[in-house]
Amino acid sequence: MDLKINLDRTGISKEDLKAYAPKIDSILGKLWSDKEDFTGWVKLPMKVNKDEMEKILNAAVTIQQTCEEFIVLGVGGSYLGARAAIQAVVGPDEVRGTNVPSFTYPKIRFAGQNLSATYLREVLETVRTKETCICVISKSGDTLEPTIAFEILREEIEAKYKEKAAERIFVITDKEHGTLRADAEEKGYTTFEVPANVGGRYSVLTPVGLLPMAVAGVDIRAMLAGAEACAVSPKWDIDAGYYAAVRYEMLKTGKNMEMFEYYEPHLEFFGEWIKQLYAESEGKNGSGLYPDTLQFSADLHSIGQYLQEGKQMFFETILNVERPSDDLFVPKCKNSLISGKSMNEINKAAMEGMMNAHEQAGIPMVRIDIPEIDSYYMGQLFYFFETTCAISAYMMGVNPFDQPGVEAYKSEMRKLLK
Ligand code: PA5
Repeated sequence: MDLKINLDRTGISKEDLKAYAPKIDSILGKLWSDKEDFTGWVKLPMKVNKDEMEKILNAAVTIQQTCEEFIVLGVGGSYLGARAAIQAVVGPDEVRGTNVPSFTYPKIRFAGQNLSATYLREVLETVRTKETCICVISKSGDTLEPTIAFEILREEIEAKYKEKAAERIFVITDKEHGTLRADAEEKGYTTFEVPANVGGRYSVLTPVGLLPMAVAGVDIRAMLAGAEACAVSPKWDIDAGYYAAVRYEMLKTGKNMEMFEYYEPHLEFFGEWIKQLYAESEGKNGSGLYPDTLQFSADLHSIGQYLQEGKQMFFETILNVERPSDDLFVPKCKNSLISGKSMNEINKAAMEGMMNAHEQAGIPMVRIDIPEIDSYYMGQLFYFFETTCAISAYMMGVNPFDQPGVEAYKSEMRKLLK
């Protein structure tokens, strides 16, 4: 059983979607042609070579055996995919060990995704007090946030572990370019490559995502198998293409925002990953859907009011987990609506109730049914959204693989720092 993409409540007929088939085919042809820049991610699931996989798994075992905490430094595409998969499969930071016994795996901490000294101070304390290894991830090798965190934490690691410090430092960066590559070569750190033809936000299935995931106990072989199942099935192309077509139709009709809604909090960072993927890929030339995420049922008690009765400028994409990892039963009690019932059953009633109410308000909805949250289906989700994103960005007439707008604030910041 695979992901199911339900487009029945979008208000767009099957005939209208079929009219997009030639366009979808032509975009997919371009993506699979090996001729377009930054499309290396398309064939990644089938191409991960045996030696590289072994190198990742061996490094993961070394880190697991050496560390209580593994600190991963990176921002944007060099951060969100790993955090999304680890939170979804292994559990949130504060509730580790949902699916695997946490005591056999180091705790994963993330840093280098902000410039807050208050945040980094806590991480620095971890290096001082716990057995740690660090991994800095930056394709360019020069991004300020991870560089600053790396310099500060490295100083501490070197002071603590002396001549053994290099054994605790791992670097994932471009094969040749960037300060980080030169630094790693000089100091003799263990390094992994970000392939040149894979951009940051499409790099989750490279060592960028795979090493931290493997350390945390995510089954990375199963994840790649899930992505491959998605890549090789013609059905996936149609699903990804039609969902992209729906998104494009929404944009044309003034539904400028896509709200991603999930009922399992473990999907929080998967939502963050989607937001970055779509926003950086599509938000160009005055175009693109603005992506946002909502955690239900919590946000039904706040933003829910706006969705139901506010300005109708959005559509919804619901991430529905069919078989959540766990369940609990409400004890027999005075409230007959919930007495003795399964929480999953009640959560589903909240979802279906929300969908009925929003349908009555005329809100278009996409529903993505995910059989369960495990490494395999996370692989499918990553690959499915990457494909959809590339197709819809091309439909919108923008390049899915660059992010010129991100440079604007950086150059202003550099002026100030000078
Ligand atoms: O998608 C992208 O390319 C960006 O979000 C990058 O991943 C992000 O800016 C981090 O860049 P780097 O990996 O070069 O540090």
